[in-house]
Amino acid sequence: MFRKLFFNKNKSSEEMQQNEDELIVKLKGQFKEEKVKPELQFTLLDLALKHNIDWQFACTNGNCARCRCYVEEGAEFLSEVNSAEKSRLDLQEIKEGYRLGCQAEIVKFGAIKAMNKTYFNS
Ligand code: FES
Repeated sequence: MFRKLFFNKNKSSEEMQQNEDELIVKLKGQFKEEKVKPELQFTLLDLALKHNIDWQFACTNGNCARCRCYVEEGAEFLSEVNSAEKSRLDLQEIKEGYRLGCQAEIVKFGAIKAMNKTYFNS
C-alpha cells in the first residue's frame, strides 16, 4: 500500500495517463465506440456486450462470423487464432488481423483496439 502510494505520488500525470492508455481496450461496433478496461478470459464479444457496444453476433461458437472483427492493435494480448477461426476466416484475413470476436480471448493486459467488421449488414 505504502509502495503504491509512494510510486503513484512520484509519477507525472503524463506517465499515469500513459499507463492508463496501456490498459484500455478500444472497441468499435457498428455505431458505438468505447474505451473499456480489459478483463482476462473475456472474449472481445463478451467485453463489447458487457458495455452495450453494438457488436454483431449470432452463435457465439465460431460458426456465423457475424462477430468478425479487425484487430488494429494489441493482437499479442489475445489468445491464438483457434480452429474455429481457421475454418471460418480465410488465411489472408487472419494474416491481415481479422478475428472472430467470440473466439478472441483476452489473455494478457495491454492496449487493444478492435472493430466489428462483419460480412453482413444488420
Ligand atoms: S458469434 Fe458467431 S462466429 Fe462469433
